[in-house]
Amino acid sequence: MFPLNTDILSDAITRLNIIDISSATIRQICALAAELEGEAEEKMVHLEMGNPGLPAESVGIEAEIEALKSGVANTYPNIAGIPALKKWGSEFVKSFLDVNVPPKGIIPTVGSMQGSFTLMLLLGQRIPGKDTMLFLNPGFPAQRNQAKLLGLKEEAFDIYDYRGKKLEEKLESILSKGNITGMIYSNPNNPAWTNLTEEELEIIGSLATKYDVIVLEDLAYFGMDFRNDVSHPGEAPFGATVARYTDNYILLLSGSKIFSYAGQRIALVCMGEKVFDRRYDYLEKFYEMPSFGDAYVFGVLYCSSSGTAHSAQYAMAAMLEKAVKGELPFIDHCKEYARKANRAKKSFLDNGFHIVYEYDGQQPISDGFFFTIGYDGMSAEELQLELLRYGVASISLTSTGSEQAGVRICVSMLRNEEDFEKLEKYLEKFNEDHSK
Ligand SMILES: Cc1ncc(COP(=O)(O)O)c(C=O)c1O
Repeated sequence: MFPLNTDILSDAITRLNIIDISSATIRQICALAAELEGEAEEKMVHLEMGNPGLPAESVGIEAEIEALKSGVANTYPNIAGIPALKKWGSEFVKSFLDVNVPPKGIIPTVGSMQGSFTLMLLLGQRIPGKDTMLFLNPGFPAQRNQAKLLGLKEEAFDIYDYRGKKLEEKLESILSKGNITGMIYSNPNNPAWTNLTEEELEIIGSLATKYDVIVLEDLAYFGMDFRNDVSHPGEAPFGATVARYTDNYILLLSGSKIFSYAGQRIALVCMGEKVFDRRYDYLEKFYEMPSFGDAYVFGVLYCSSSGTAHSAQYAMAAMLEKAVKGELPFIDHCKEYARKANRAKKSFLDNGFHIVYEYDGQQPISDGFFFTIGYDGMSAEELQLELLRYGVASISLTSTGSEQAGVRICVSMLRNEEDFEKLEKYLEKFNEDHSK
């Protein structure tokens, strides 16, 4: 039964060879949680992993089955993307973000994971001396691991103390050194669920142009800042994006969360035309392809996976088409996460916890896929370990590059009434034992 005693917890950590819990990967925490469930003979509440938690959009499944039946499985897919995907991807970006990315700039990848990995590789090559990625933290830990794997240099800062106008001075001080080739952030943010304001996006965009930095804007949770209803294609308000403030942008649009299509591993790289067409001496020598877009598709993606599964491309094309035509209310479907977050937040707040990243400008953050919590007097690591002992699995904010004391809560795996009741019960016990 939870709570477990501290020895059982530390033995399990040792058995799994976890050297530092606060920087453990999500998959390591999942393995540890399974181990602890065995010890406690009771289920934990899983708030660590961001599986979608909603059924995959049936439009995608049907299109994929049809494509397979028509025989696409025996043929290599076009690396640059099948024509329908490129067309509907471009229309989607126009309809929901009011940004023009021509079909040639819409390129499928094996999830956004492959997109960010391969793009960072090319960003690290494009200009000798520009060899460093800037991470606006907190962020998705896997992307920092990707930069590490690629041997790229890394700069990072926690935006907690640099919101609004303060962001400008901070960015200027880093970008003016000249070594930053690209910067990456997610919006809505994994893990904090903050959303950059228009003022902040404008600052990022104008400095990216000034210092020749390419922005990788990760829109994995597009549309899920439920404070702004961007669900009507072709009508304002449109989704927030840096693409309105610079030409130096690449958007990452994943099917995993917006269409709950994570299992089929498909996302779109949406490369602004100026980025696609820009020519570099280094790329000409190395790939014999001077333009960034060609080097990306025919140089990097070709070597990396030779394209994205044929049938998944058909699925994504069909979902995008329906969304653009207003026949697939994907944002409404995702509102389920806001309902879950609202209820889970209440359980935490009622039991002595506080929200760590709480505001965007003057506005409280939206309810959605993630939120962050702290408990007075506990560091990120202490809180993560104590919560584990009490039956709640989460990831520490330290692993996301945050300097704040707290953990990330992901609500997608709270599936039913029983899960919420269990969470409430575990948190009550936690608070009973820890409140002074
Ligand atoms: C911010 C962010 N980017 C990318 C991904 C991964 O996306 P994909 O499944 O398309 O690889 C995730 C998944 O958790 C994420 O949170």
